[in-house]
Amino acid sequence: MFARLKQDIKAVFERDPAARSALEVVFCYPGLHALWFHRVAHWFWKHEFYFVGRFTSHLGRFFTGIEIHPGATIGKGFFIDHGMGVVIGETAEIGDNVTLYHGVTLGGVSWEKVKRHPTIEDNVVIGSGAKVLGPFSVGKGSKIGSNSVVVKEVPANSTVVGIPGRVVMATEKPSEKVDLEHGKLPDPEAKAISCLFDQIRELERKYVALAAEHEDLKKRVGM
Ligand SMILES: CC(C)(COP(=O)(O)OP(=O)(O)OC[C@H]1O[C@@H](n2cnc3c(N)ncnc32)[C@H](O)[C@@H]1OP(=O)(O)O)[C@@H](O)C(=O)NCCC(=O)NCCS
Repeated sequence: MFARLKQDIKAVFERDPAARSALEVVFCYPGLHALWFHRVAHWFWKHEFYFVGRFTSHLGRFFTGIEIHPGATIGKGFFIDHGMGVVIGETAEIGDNVTLYHGVTLGGVSWEKVKRHPTIEDNVVIGSGAKVLGPFSVGKGSKIGSNSVVVKEVPANSTVVGIPGRVVMATEKPSEKVDLEHGKLPDPEAKAISCLFDQIRELERKYVALAAEHEDLKKRVGM
């Protein structure tokens, strides 16, 4: 248990340059308190003490302003900075080393009793005020910009901003994924040559169209 608490405190020091001492972190970080309330609430929930789980989660919300449903699953090294206004839904799943800022919602868009909240994979950072809505995944290592509204799957290692959230930077496109099954790696030189061929074909097409127009013009002026 102490190893877990040490890991929680370490996560704060790693991701908040404003943290000065362990005492400050233990007593003044609502994100940490909310996580500790959640662990207790989640234990009750898993052992089918639903009301006690829910009530523990409600107490956590009362003291921290962070609402985490006791059914949500959260990995190691989780950190919520500032925290006020964070809402994490019942079927949300959070991987390891995820960071959320204040005002983040991991919400659902359906009233059906099914998986309706997002899955946040390892090492994701979600900026303040961002809403991630629906039962899709945010891929490993991705960043969601402040105040974005994300409504569909996010590939790994991408940056998503805006409303609706759009990928503005991606280091891994789906077609370029390593094909481990067939032992193929993406070939950047082949890709660059293929782009050059595309440009040459486009220039040829334009040249043919211009030459035809030129011929047509010559005929019309009687040259
Ligand atoms: C998205 C974010 C993680 C930056 O990621 P990054 O990979 O370093 O990307 P960049 O800063 O290079 O930005 C990429 C593009 O997105 C734009 N952008 C960045 N954040 C944005 C946001 N929240 N909304 C809209 N556009 C945004 C940038 O202007 C840039 O656009 P450009 O290429 O046209 O110049 C960061 O901007 C962010 O929002 N972090 C959250 C931090 C936070 O909540 N802090 C609260 C502390 S209290």
